[in-house]
Amino acid sequence: MSEIEDLKKDALAYICPHFASNTELSKGPKIFVKGEGCYVYDIEGNCYLDTFASLLTTICGHNRSEIAKVVQEQMKQLEFFPNYVDTFTVPLIKLAKKLAEITPGDLSVSFFVNSGSEACETAIKMARQYHLEKGERSRYKIIARRYSYHGTTLGGVSATGIPWFREYFEPLLPGFIHVIAPHCFRMGLEPDECKEICLKAMEETILWEGPESVAAVILDPIPGSNMGYPLPPDGYLQGIRKICNKYGILLIFDEVQTGFGKTGKMFACEHWDVTPDIMAIGKGFTGGYIPLAATITTPGIYEVFKKPGSEFRSGSTYGGHTTACAATLTNIDIIEKENLVEKAAEMGKYLKSKLEELYKYRIVADFRGIGMLWAIELMADREKRKPLDTKLNVGSWIREWCWKNKMILRNNADILVIAPALVMTKDQIDEMLGKIDQAIGEAIKQFNL
Ligand SMILES: Cc1ncc(COP(=O)(O)O)c(C=O)c1O
Repeated sequence: MSEIEDLKKDALAYICPHFASNTELSKGPKIFVKGEGCYVYDIEGNCYLDTFASLLTTICGHNRSEIAKVVQEQMKQLEFFPNYVDTFTVPLIKLAKKLAEITPGDLSVSFFVNSGSEACETAIKMARQYHLEKGERSRYKIIARRYSYHGTTLGGVSATGIPWFREYFEPLLPGFIHVIAPHCFRMGLEPDECKEICLKAMEETILWEGPESVAAVILDPIPGSNMGYPLPPDGYLQGIRKICNKYGILLIFDEVQTGFGKTGKMFACEHWDVTPDIMAIGKGFTGGYIPLAATITTPGIYEVFKKPGSEFRSGSTYGGHTTACAATLTNIDIIEKENLVEKAAEMGKYLKSKLEELYKYRIVADFRGIGMLWAIELMADREKRKPLDTKLNVGSWIREWCWKNKMILRNNADILVIAPALVMTKDQIDEMLGKIDQAIGEAIKQFNL
């Protein structure tokens, strides 16, 4: 048996993949060995254009020699020392200072963790302990939203509003309440009406639960790839901020997916000029190089943890890993030096104009997004909003067609999602959209749509 065959066999025998699909695995595992910019190579030497940037992470592209160099130097100097009790490292301090500079409002105090899930989990714990330290122990409830994803830990799943992630793990943590979130397309509403309905639902839920029992509202300013990036109507996030202020509730934004330039601003909440009290970041934060995430808060909130005995009671061995911090600093440096945030805004306009052309297909019911985050929702009939027959699996068929044609595309049922690296060129965008166009055309023929 060849080495490749052995590796494939071992992959199936010894690894339980994250959110595995046995249907996909039965076609054979896909093994990747090399990356270059927006392209990745599999073990058979095939080259793929990755339109989902290694699960929304590699925003500066693969194989950045600047990051490799810094990582090697840091490894030689001090690969790791924990951020624990009273110990710090130089890259950790520099990264925290950088975050204070680039995050909105007065967010400036960071707690470092290893994943987006942990960042959300930490935000929830921070909000609860904050109220406890302020003498309001009754504030333990977390208001989250339907459609949002906040990670895979029990706290993250409890906050998540998508049944698929929750159903096997019930009963989940007590005190998590879900309200409706704006999705103008699905609700068939104009943005203003959608905003009013969702803000009313939020305030009524808080009043029903009792404001004095609520610690925080957690939300993703733009729900992610699972929902296909429904943008909040203007005024919605501002309205949520006002409601939280009115009832003394902390506002947590989960910018794990939307942070670091992907929307054409460094953080998505900046589009609406709303700053949370606590923000979770991850994914693009490190550019995919070494795992790292963070929960950032304001000096005002951090103040309550400064009294001896009131310290924030959370921590992990590797949170704030020294070499991960060094790599992440360089990733942010590249984002700034190459103006990737501005570039994402520019390319976003181009992407939008090209995506509009896909309306030539009747099954393209909606496309939505901002910057470099876009989704195309397919339906049997755009006018009647009639969904495709789920048994046909049209979205998955399109994903597979793209794979056979050397492109990685993400689909969520019949929503196609594109979220490429911010370094993607105009030519590569044309290549990506050309293939999507062709794939939809082929699907229409295949399924007689
Ligand atoms: C909005 C959001 N929050 C949290 C997470 C969890 O991050 P991680 O997978 O790094 O734990 C994700 C991951 O997809 C996400 O998109």
